[in-house]
Amino acid sequence: MLDFDTTLRARRSVRGFLPQPLDRALIEEVFALAALAPSNCNVQPWQTHVVSGAALRTLGQALTEAAQRGQPPAPDVPMINRYHGPFRTRQIDAAKALYGAMGIERDDHGGRADAFLRNLDAFGAPHAAFLFLPEGFDLREAADLGGYAQSLMLAMASRQIASCAQGALSLYPAVVRDRLRIAPGPRLIMGIAFGREDPNHPANAARTDRAALSDMVSFHD
Ligand SMILES: Cc1cc2nc3c(=O)[nH]c(=O)nc-3n(C[C@H](O)[C@H](O)[C@H](O)COP(=O)(O)O)c2cc1C
Repeated sequence: MLDFDTTLRARRSVRGFLPQPLDRALIEEVFALAALAPSNCNVQPWQTHVVSGAALRTLGQALTEAAQRGQPPAPDVPMINRYHGPFRTRQIDAAKALYGAMGIERDDHGGRADAFLRNLDAFGAPHAAFLFLPEGFDLREAADLGGYAQSLMLAMASRQIASCAQGALSLYPAVVRDRLRIAPGPRLIMGIAFGREDPNHPANAARTDRAALSDMVSFHD
């Protein structure tokens, strides 16, 4: 198992997976660790659905078909369509890193569309977690859910389990609810694809960097 700093540095978004499933005991171990995340009043506002194997491929196909027939995305929480200023620059840099690694040119709209569609099948991962925020909760508890998601991905990274958080898996929540027979109410915030990394997948050569500390943290003495 990796030490903490090494784990933080080792975690990155992986977008190509080996098909072999993980042991159920290992999956349960990392989800139990993720639940150690702090939350407002310890309400633990996470409702997680782990979908694996054939069930995930069937769901992925339904999500992909929704996008391919031009069904407008209807996420439970609206998506910001365009970032501005430094946020836009960072978004562009991340996209350049990913599409560059995949050999997709800037004006290759078909290539980009295909690369996006891979999201909806969780990049072929053997497992995906769908993270729901219980009914009645809002931004503060969504922050809790973010901490839970990062705890989960770090618990995975320390055990060489690759992952990718995916807002894309929240674009068609009605399809997810229908396939998994989940009652309406809780809001789907994100998916997380996970499994063992396919080291030969070109998308996995992408690397992102981070802004300078001085751009992110103000110290008040
Ligand atoms: C909440 C959340 C949603 C994300 N959604 C997607 C997504 O839909 N598709 C994707 O390829 N990456 C997605 N990402 C991954 C980010 O692009 C990635 O975290 C960022 O570029 C930094 O790269 P790194 O994770 O490799 O450090 C998401 C990340 C987070 C935290």
